[in-house]
Amino acid sequence: MESNRRDFIKQAAITSAGVGLMTSLPSSVRASGPAPSDKINVALVGCRNMGFGDLSQSLGYSEVSCVALCDVDETVLNEKAGLIQSKYNQHPKLYRDFRKMLEQKDIDAVFIGTPDHWHCLIMVACLEAGKDVYVEKPMGNSIEECNIMTRAAKKHKQVVQVGQQQRSGFIFKKAMELIKNGNIGNLRKINIWANFEYGVGSMIIPDSPVPTGVDYEMWLGPAPQRAFNKNRFHGSWRHFWDYGGGLASDWGVHLVDMGLWARDITTAPDRILTYAANTFREKRARETFDTMTICYPKKDFVINYDLTAGLQRGPWDMTYGIAFVGDHATIVTDRSKLTVFPETDSKTKKFKAEEYKFTEGKDSHNEHVRNFLDCIKSRKTPVCPPEIGRAAALHVHMANIAGRVNEPVLIWDDVINQFTNSPAANQLIIPEYRKPWTLPKY
Ligand SMILES: NC(=O)c1ccc[n+]([C@@H]2O[C@H](COP(=O)([O-])OP(=O)(O)OC[C@H]3O[C@@H](n4cnc5c(N)ncnc54)[C@H](O)[C@@H]3O)[C@@H](O)[C@H]2O)c1
Repeated sequence: MESNRRDFIKQAAITSAGVGLMTSLPSSVRASGPAPSDKINVALVGCRNMGFGDLSQSLGYSEVSCVALCDVDETVLNEKAGLIQSKYNQHPKLYRDFRKMLEQKDIDAVFIGTPDHWHCLIMVACLEAGKDVYVEKPMGNSIEECNIMTRAAKKHKQVVQVGQQQRSGFIFKKAMELIKNGNIGNLRKINIWANFEYGVGSMIIPDSPVPTGVDYEMWLGPAPQRAFNKNRFHGSWRHFWDYGGGLASDWGVHLVDMGLWARDITTAPDRILTYAANTFREKRARETFDTMTICYPKKDFVINYDLTAGLQRGPWDMTYGIAFVGDHATIVTDRSKLTVFPETDSKTKKFKAEEYKFTEGKDSHNEHVRNFLDCIKSRKTPVCPPEIGRAAALHVHMANIAGRVNEPVLIWDDVINQFTNSPAANQLIIPEYRKPWTLPKY
């Protein structure tokens, strides 16, 4: 592993601690701002939407500098570089190839905001170059990529935060506290739903020439060669298996993750039951499912995930949400509110739990990025490490696989990394990379 600038700075700070008073003073009393060891130089690969959001959160902190931006679309790259310059007066170096970017020695950490099919290759390359990584969710676009990323992170010992920012959300932390303190009694069921209009995809349009300034070969990367179509490109790639997993994984990793967190589950499911179909009648540009009901039986409770793309309303009049069902109360929550609905004791007519309602709390996205920055400095494990990203991603990828091979029940053996009841499903564990790209070996 290449030695990392941060390690060097940390080492320098440690070795000089006994000889210079400056190193022991808090940064607030230093004459010239924070010590070099407090500075974090970040880069971003995949700049258009969420990646830029991640980067922007980090640039709200004075110790962070953006030293590099990388995107395969020149228009996006130049626009975002202009924003960084006008808003933060920073001048990152610009790249179209992340491999070239990783030769830049002063980068401490990389945000990865590309479509899902690129996460594995780019994250592993960053780790091998000694960089810390914030990788957007879902961690990988296949079971095997998630396995590889988890093993690579373990081997290289860099700090890795997966972008499941609900782990840093006040509302969900409160829900976990109530559940784990026994406030809702015995947890029996977690009902999750996501109904979003965008999930049905865009109107069908013909293929077209590659837009000027786009390196389409590099956008496709390990995915199969295809003619350019705007529907498979920026934003709407998420409806096609080559690059994403549709609404099931887009929102599923965030929401199913909360079900796993309630019982601190960090492993793959051992069985899942899936109904997956397309019941939205209009033909749209989409391969992923618009209607799914997924059941994850756990040891002594069950997680249900229900999605209907094309709708905007759902249970409890919420577009998406989670109901944690306990013997004494049900907690209903989304990212901005939490309500506890207590059960009534039929004899005493009293509530079995306290009524609660929360709507306050800090922005979870900002908190999640802040946690990453803190861990870069402390070298502690962030709140959403690869094991948690893998567990959430495997839960949703397996449901998509079940739908694709029309196998309502799938049984998984995590030791042999195989489904034990479906040879067809086993064909979808490892993605086939287009040459010259190959799956990293870990
Ligand atoms: N955490 C969240 O709440 C959240 C929300 C939205 C999206 N996401 C995730 O963020 C990621 C990006 O989603 P998006 O909506 O921003 O997608 P997007 O299509 O809007 O942006 C992706 C960007 O990556 C660039 N890109 C593609 N291949 C590249 C490569 N090889 N090198 C450099 N740049 C490359 C594209 O040109 C584009 O600018 C996805 O993994 C998505 O699931 C997370």
